[in-house]
Order: sequence, then C-alpha cells, then structure tokens
Amino acid sequence: MNTPAIHTPTLPCPAQERILLTGATGFLGGAVAAQMIAEGHAEALCFLVRADNPAQGLQRLRDNLRQHGVGDSQSQALSEAQILCGDFLDTAWLARETPRLMQVDRVINCAAVASFSKNPNIWPVNVEGTYAFAQVLSRSSRLKRFLHVGTAMCCGPQRESPISESWEFPEAAQQLVDYTASKAEIERRMREELPSLPLVVARPSIVVGHRSLGCQASGSIFWVFRMGFALESFTCGLDEQIDVIPVDYCAEALIGLALKPLLGHDLYHISAGHHSACTFAEIDQAFALANGAEPVGERYRKVEADDLKSLASHFETRIGPANPRLVLRALRLYSGFADLNYLFDNSRLLEEGIAMPPRFTDYLDVCVKSSSGVSIATQMQWDFK
Ligand SMILES: NC(=O)c1ccc[n+]([C@@H]2O[C@H](COP(=O)([O-])OP(=O)(O)OC[C@H]3O[C@@H](n4cnc5c(N)ncnc54)[C@H](OP(=O)(O)O)[C@@H]3O)[C@@H](O)[C@H]2O)c1
Repeated sequence: MNTPAIHTPTLPCPAQERILLTGATGFLGGAVAAQMIAEGHAEALCFLVRADNPAQGLQRLRDNLRQHGVGDSQSQALSEAQILCGDFLDTAWLARETPRLMQVDRVINCAAVASFSKNPNIWPVNVEGTYAFAQVLSRSSRLKRFLHVGTAMCCGPQRESPISESWEFPEAAQQLVDYTASKAEIERRMREELPSLPLVVARPSIVVGHRSLGCQASGSIFWVFRMGFALESFTCGLDEQIDVIPVDYCAEALIGLALKPLLGHDLYHISAGHHSACTFAEIDQAFALANGAEPVGERYRKVEADDLKSLASHFETRIGPANPRLVLRALRLYSGFADLNYLFDNSRLLEEGIAMPPRFTDYLDVCVKSSSGVSIATQMQWDFK
C-alpha cells in the first residue's frame, strides 16, 4: 500500500478551463484562492465577490489574499475582469451575469454565512440565494463540476461516531443551530431539485488555523481552545478526541475534488478522521509546550453545559476583559458541538489520492505564535460577525 503524501500532488488545471470561486474574501475561499494562485492557476480563476463594482471587489479580494500569504506581485496580476460582483442575499445580478456564468467550467462554492449566531441572513443566503445561483448554473451545458462546500456537522446530533458520509438529514428542529440546518437544507434541495447540476459536496469538519500562517487569516474556533485552557474547564473530557483540520489542508482537498476529472462519489468529508484526530489531552500538552507553560492536566475540570455559568466569576481574571454574557453564550454554543465527540470518516477522500490530513498538534504552535498579542475576546469576534 502506498503511504499517502503529506501534500496532495498538484493536479493540472485543464487547459482553457474557467473556475469560479465564491467566498474568496473569507477563510476557506481565501485559502483556496491562495493555493490555486501559488499553483499557477491564477488566470483560470474568476471570483464572485460582494462589492459595488469590480475595482472594489478586487481590492477586497487582495486584502484577504494578503492575510493568506499571497505576495503583492501575484495579487497585482489579478484583474478587475476576473471579478463578478454579486450577493446571495439579493440575486437580481444573476440575470445580468448569466452569460458570464455560462462560460464557467467548474465552481468552488465557499460563500455562506458561517455563523452559529441567530443571524437573520443565514437562511436567505445559505439556502435561497445559494439555490438561485446553483439553479442558473444547472442550465449550463459547459459546467463540469459544482463543488459545494457544506459542513460535516449538518449530520445533526445523536449520530454514532465515526460518521460516514450520508445524504440522510435530521429534521431542521433537531439541528443544534440554524447554520447547520441551512447547510443541510441547501444540500437536499440542490440534490433533489437540480438533477442536471453536476453537484459534488465536500463537507469539512472543524477548520482551525493554517499550517504555516497559524491564525493570521482567521482565529475562528482557536479561541475556544484558548478559553478552555485559560479556564481549566470545559464540557469535554481530556481523553476525548476532536476532528480538526487546518485551512490549507482543507483548501488542498477542495482543489483536488474540484479538478480531478473523475470522482468515485458525489459526497466527501474533509476531516482528520480516525487517524489524525487528537485528544484534548494531546492538545493540552501541545498548547502548553507552545506557551512555555505546564499542561493543565490534572487541574482540568470537566463541567456540564448547564454548569458553565459557574465559571463566569473567573472570566475576567483568566480570559481578560470580555463581555461575560457573550463568553457564556459562546461556550454554550461551542460545547454543544464539542460534546458530540464526532470523528468524520475520511476514507473516501483518501481513496481519491488526497494527502493524509495533519494532526492539530503538528501545527498548533504556529496558531499560538500568531495569536500572541490578540486577546481571546478579540479572536472570538471571528465567529460572532
Ligand atoms: N470554518 C469552518 O470551520 C468550516 C467548517 C465546515 C464548513 N465550513 C464551510 O465553509 C464555507 C466557508 O466558511 P468560512 O469559514 O470560510 O466562512 P467566512 O470566513 O465567514 O467566509 C464566508 C465567505 O462567504 C461570503 N459571503 C457571505 N455572505 C455572502 C452573500 N450574501 N453573498 C455572497 N457571498 C457571501 C463572504 O463574503 P464577504 O467577505 O463579503 O462577507 C466570505 O467570502 C461555508 O460554506 C461553511 O459552511 C466552514
């Protein structure tokens, strides 16, 4: 048996093909754009960006690409002609841009409201707007693949881990938050109602940091670990595992799934899986080592979600200045997912030749370094936009 590589071998981008990337001003989409540019695919790309005009869209894209390590010369080589201005909240632009959309060969759809908050835009953007976009593309005779980025957590609670890919979804009311309910619903709708759409869904697990840039581009979810160790308490046991992947690995896998001429399936997890998931004890060790501190170890106290409020008196001293109600809400929301203890099976992805995922503890020190000088409360803002 071949040992899977650390990085996925770069697939050539088919000549003359045009790839439309959405969400490139965000975390996952920014990482996909950075990697495709680094691999020499810049000219093949066009970007759907929320902006009043292409110049503004290009500027927003470049600002984000800088955070993802793209150099000025590569960024300056991108042009306004590669920007399509559009918003999933108001899809009137779709009629205007249909001719350009019909020139696209592959779509990587990373755009979404990715928030656990009660954001009123979640359903209109993640379901209605995304569906309208996919519906137009389903009429294209040129489109070869519509790679939609879902979330592994759309499987809902009460599932037995490890979770395999499945098109079965729980009732929306059973989902922990509106976000996961919306992500399940759009997958279901596109699959059932748009049979001509060449749909492939990739569902990442929990994306934290970047192997070489740490939290520079986004501190999303890393603050939860910082908070748990600062409080020396959370709802997980130290012996439990969590399925975390870095954004650059996720991007590599998305690009592989978007460009590979033939795929064995239409649904994939992008996850650490059984092989690369870490226990909280391992994360505690790596976190302490990176901070030059002692692991929390035996001082750690596992609490019930209902008892998280008992930690509130320590928030100020351990976390620093932060809104205690917001901290408590954040801890409750994230504990709901952490407590599921899910590992997502990634054998389908590995069978496609995508590299083995790294372990969170392999690059956690980079996340720690890039977070120095950033308070936990500030980093938390990444997930409460
Ligand atoms: N981060 C994770 O841990 C994780 C895990 C599993 C799955 N995912 C999935 O990965 C995808 C990207 O998530 P992310 O973490 O990269 O989120 P993110 O950093 O918040 O980026 C979201 C992107 O979507 C765009 N967007 C938001 N609303 C839009 C609208 N109305 N019209 C058009 N574009 C819009 C944003 O554009 P603006 O810059 O204009 O706001 C941004 O480019 C989502 O589908 C999410 O469900 C993420």
